[in-house]
Amino acid sequence: MVDDAFLTLHREMTRQGPGTSEDVRWALSQLDLPDAPNVLDAACGPGADLVTLAECLPRARIEGIDQLPHLVEEARTATDRFTNVTVSTGDMAQINGFYDLIWCSGALYFLGVTEGLTLWKRALTTDGAVAFSEPVLPADAPQSAKDFWADYPAISDLDGITARVEAAGYVVQDHRLITGMAWADYYAQLGGRIASLRPGADAALAQVLDDAAREIALWRQAPGDIAYALILARPGFGAI
Ligand SMILES: C[S@@+](CC[C@H](N)C(=O)[O-])C[C@H]1O[C@@H](n2cnc3c(N)ncnc32)[C@H](O)[C@@H]1O
Repeated sequence: MVDDAFLTLHREMTRQGPGTSEDVRWALSQLDLPDAPNVLDAACGPGADLVTLAECLPRARIEGIDQLPHLVEEARTATDRFTNVTVSTGDMAQINGFYDLIWCSGALYFLGVTEGLTLWKRALTTDGAVAFSEPVLPADAPQSAKDFWADYPAISDLDGITARVEAAGYVVQDHRLITGMAWADYYAQLGGRIASLRPGADAALAQVLDDAAREIALWRQAPGDIAYALILARPGFGAI
């Protein structure tokens, strides 16, 4: 259950996690999608990636879902100029296909990589793909980066993510790291929210603001070593 103070902090942000429109464009350039694909943004948040998907894929049928109604409203506002985008409240664990692409930025870890990919296999077309970003920590990362991810026990290096993908019967087609600017932009927005909410914050909100400020401070100690891996994966040959 996400508490109210956490939701207050994250309101009115264009993204709910690190990522850029360039990441979406790169993924689309690597995937040989049909001319008019069916695309789902699973856990779309406030809809930044839906906008890029719609700009890049004008003939696509694009759906966004998120479990939080206020984010669905924000995503609808962000995409209201696109006639081929619909956004609804829903559970990404219960999707029905068929999609040529399931895009999922910074959210598959809520289901678990293997568990989520296994669920989504039946919602993909024959050549369908999943593109998702997942925390990654190289084995030789400095202690400051390990401290940053201390609350995410499933964290692994790239080989570990690949193993979790393959355990779901998928193969990794390609990957790239999301680091640096994407994180700086995200934390600049979050830092702005912290500063604007600090005056008059009650105890619960002050605690959430402190936690977020600590997260940003930890990131600042190792900005080059804290990354998401953007993974492009497809069900492997013969996978059920
Ligand atoms: C870190 S945010 C990322 C949001 C968005 N993809 C972005 O990059 O801005 C994670 C999102 O996952 C959503 N979420 C978590 N579990 C979900 C579920 N089971 N079904 C749908 N959305 C879910 C949250 O509401 C939140 O919007």
